[in-house]
Amino acid sequence: MCLRWKFLILYYKFTAISCLLALVIINAVMPAFATAGGLIDMGYGRGGRMSAGTKSEHSDEPIKPIPISFDYDRAKVELGKKLFFEPRLSKSGWITCNSCHNLSTGGADNLPSSIGHKWFFGPINSPTVLNARFNLAQFWDGRAKDLKEQAGGPIANPIEMGSNHELAVSVLQSIPEYVQWFKEIYGDEKIDIDKVTDAIASFEETLTTPNSRFDHWLKGYDATISESEKEGYDLFKDKGCVTCHNGVGVGGNSYQKFGLAKPYDKDTHTLGRYNVTKDEKDKYVFKVPLLRNIELTAPYFHDASTWSLSEAVNIMAEYQLGLTLTDDETNKIVAFLRTLTGEQPSIIFPTLPPSTANTPEPNRN
Ligand code: HEC
Ligand code: HEC
Repeated sequence: MCLRWKFLILYYKFTAISCLLALVIINAVMPAFATAGGLIDMGYGRGGRMSAGTKSEHSDEPIKPIPISFDYDRAKVELGKKLFFEPRLSKSGWITCNSCHNLSTGGADNLPSSIGHKWFFGPINSPTVLNARFNLAQFWDGRAKDLKEQAGGPIANPIEMGSNHELAVSVLQSIPEYVQWFKEIYGDEKIDIDKVTDAIASFEETLTTPNSRFDHWLKGYDATISESEKEGYDLFKDKGCVTCHNGVGVGGNSYQKFGLAKPYDKDTHTLGRYNVTKDEKDKYVFKVPLLRNIELTAPYFHDASTWSLSEAVNIMAEYQLGLTLTDDETNKIVAFLRTLTGEQPSIIFPTLPPSTANTPEPNRN
C-alpha cells in the first residue's frame, strides 16, 4: 500500500517535471528557431498562431494574405514610434501623426477631413496608416513615392502640423535623449529631417494587420468565414471589384479613375493624379485604397461622401462598374469586407523625454 502511494507521488512528480520541461522548451527554444529563420516577432508583427506551416488551399486567389512577420530594426522602430507620437514635431506642440492616424481607431481619424493646426480642416479624408507599406505610392494622388518621402509632408504642412523641418529638427536636437538615440542608430549626433522621416517610416512599416479571418481562409481554414461571407467574396470577384482591389492590401497597387462607368459628380474639384502628372487623362484618377480593416475607417472615399459601407459598395458598383446590386448582394459583399479586419498592432504608448531650456516653445499661432 505504502509503496504504491510512493510510486504514485513519484509518478506525479515526474509528470509535473516533464510538463514544466515541455513548457520551457516551447517558450525558450521555439522562438530561437523563429529568430534564426528571420521571423522575428518584435511585438509589432503578430505571432503565427494557427497559420504557421499550413498548406495553402487558396493560394491562387487574387487576394493574398498579409505576411505574419517582417524583419525590423528594433531600435529604429522604437525611435520612429516616439516620433509618431511626438507632439513637439508640430508648431503648436499638440498635434501628432497619431492625431489624424489614430492607431486606436484603425489608423485614421474617422472624420470627413482632418483637423490640423489652428483647427484648420484639410481638403481630403485621411487614409489609414495601417498596411500603408503595401501601397505603390503614398497619398490619394500618389505624390510621395514611399513612406519616408511622405512623412516629411505633414510636419511642414501649414494646415496639418504647421511646423517646418528646421524647427522640428531643432526641437529634437535640443533634447539630449533624442540626440543620443539618433547617434546610436545613425552614428551621428546631428539630427536632420532625412533621419527623422526614415525612423518614422520604419515604425510605419510595422503597422500591418495580419491574421484576419479572410487571411485564415486563404490559408486553407475554410471554417473561418461563413457561407454568406464566402458568397460575398465570390460576388466581389464576379462583379469585378477584384480587378482594382486585389493583392495583399486588397487595393493600393494601381491608380484608377473614380467614375469609370459613370462620371462621379459629387466632387469635381479634387483632380487626383492629374495634380502630379498634369496629364488630362489623369483627372479624377486616384490611388485605389486598401480595403483591409475597411469597417474601421468610415467615412469613405477621398471626399468622405458616405459614412455607410453598404452605400460605399453601391457607389462603387454604380460608378466603377455600371451595375446596380440587390440588397442581398450588397449585404454579402459588406459581410465579406468585414472579414478583412486583421489583428491591430498592439502599441506600448511611448514615454517622451522632457524639453530643455533650449527647446523652442510651442506656438499656437
Ligand atoms: C492634420 C492631420 C494629419 C496629420 C497630423 C498627419 N496626417 Fe498623414 N495624412 C493626412 C491626410 C488628410 C492625408 C491624405 C492627404 C492626401 O492624400 O492628399 C494623409 C496621408 C498620409 C499617408 C498616406 C496614406 C495613403 O494611403 O496614401 C501616410 C502614410 C501618412 N499620412 C502618415 C503620416 C505621418 C507619418 C504623420 C506624422 C509625421 C502624419 N501622417 C500626420 C492627415 C494627417
Ligand atoms: C475600376 C477600379 C475599381 C473598381 C472596379 C472598384 N473600385 Fe472600389 N475604389 C476604386 C477607387 C479609385 C477608389 C477611391 C475613390 C476615391 O475616393 O477617390 C475606391 C474606393 C473604394 C472604397 C472606399 C475606400 C475608402 O477607404 O474610402 C470601397 C469600400 C470600395 N472601393 C469597394 C469596392 C467594391 C465593393 C467594388 C465592387 C462593387 C469596387 N470597389 C470596385 C477603384 C475601384
